[in-house]
Amino acid sequence: MSASLLSGKVFLLVTGASKGIGRQIAESFGSLLGEGSLVLLLARNSNGLKETANKLPKRIKVQTRSVDLRVTDANHLKDIISKAVGPAGVTQFENAIIVHNAASIGDLSKPTIALTDFQTWRDYYDLNVFSPAVLNGVFMQLFNEASKVTRFVINVTSIAANTPFGSAGYYCSGKAARTMFFKVFATENPNVYVLNYSPGFVDTDMLHAVITGITDPSARNFFREVQSSDLVLTTQQTVNRMIEIIKLQKFNSGDIIDYSDLLEA
Ligand SMILES: NC(=O)c1ccc[n+]([C@@H]2O[C@H](COP(=O)([O-])OP(=O)(O)OC[C@H]3O[C@@H](n4cnc5c(N)ncnc54)[C@H](OP(=O)(O)O)[C@@H]3O)[C@@H](O)[C@H]2O)c1
Repeated sequence: MSASLLSGKVFLLVTGASKGIGRQIAESFGSLLGEGSLVLLLARNSNGLKETANKLPKRIKVQTRSVDLRVTDANHLKDIISKAVGPAGVTQFENAIIVHNAASIGDLSKPTIALTDFQTWRDYYDLNVFSPAVLNGVFMQLFNEASKVTRFVINVTSIAANTPFGSAGYYCSGKAARTMFFKVFATENPNVYVLNYSPGFVDTDMLHAVITGITDPSARNFFREVQSSDLVLTTQQTVNRMIEIIKLQKFNSGDIIDYSDLLEA
C-alpha cells in the first residue's frame, strides 16, 4: 500500500459528514491532503455539512451536497460525483478515497420477533446496506482500473457487526451485511485497498441514542457500563487511530480492524 494514500492530490468522499465521526474524518483527513485535493461531503443536513467544510484547510477544495442516501439512486450519485470532479476528470487525482460512514441506528425498542414490518426493514437496509453498496459501485465505475488512480475504500463498521446486542436487530444485522459486502468487494478487487474500521465507542449522537434508547435489559446494562467507564472515545481519538492504522499498513485488504486492535509497528 502506498504510504502516501492520505497525501498528494486526493479526491476524498465522506458520507455522513454533517456531524460525529464523519465530520472528524473530513477534518482530520483533510488536514493531511495535498494541494489540488477535493473533498466531497454528503449527508442530509446542509448546515452541518457547511460547518464541517469550514473546518478544512483553505488550500483544499470542499464541496457539500445534501442528499438523503436512503432514497437516492445510482444516476443521482453518479451525477453528484461527476459534477464534483468536473471537466478535468478523475485522472487529475493521484488517490481516490471513499469513506462509507453514514448510518442510522434504527429502532432499538423491539426484539427480533417484533420486527415484522417489511417496509421498515427495507427503509433500514436502503440506507445502511444498499446505499453504500450502490455508491461504491458508482464510485468504482468512475475511478475505474483504467484511470490508474489509487483507490482506497473505508467502511465504518462496528463491534455490532460481530456481537449481537438484544433489541438491535436492524443495526447488528445491517452492520454485518455491509461489512461482508466490503469483504467480498475486497476479494474481487485486489487493486483496491479496503479497510473495515470499527471505531470503538465514540461520543456522538448515535452512541447517546443507544445508551438512552436500547430496551433489552442486558444490552442496556452493557451500554450504561460503557458510558460510566473510560471506554468512550472522542471523535478525534478514534479518527487519529484510523489514520495511524492507514499509515502502519499492517492490515490485509478487507480486514476488520478495531480501534483497540494492536498492530505491530
Ligand atoms: N458512535 C459510536 O460509538 C459508533 C460505534 C461503532 C460504529 N459507529 C459507526 O460510525 C459511523 C458514524 O456514526 P456516528 O456515531 O458519527 O453517528 P451520528 O453522529 O449519528 O452521524 C451519522 C451521520 O450519518 C448521516 N446520515 C444519517 N442518515 C442519513 C441519510 N438518510 N442520508 C445521508 N446521511 C445520513 C448523518 O447526517 P444527516 O443526519 O445530516 O443526514 C450523520 O452525518 C456509523 O457508521 C456508525 O454506525 C459509531
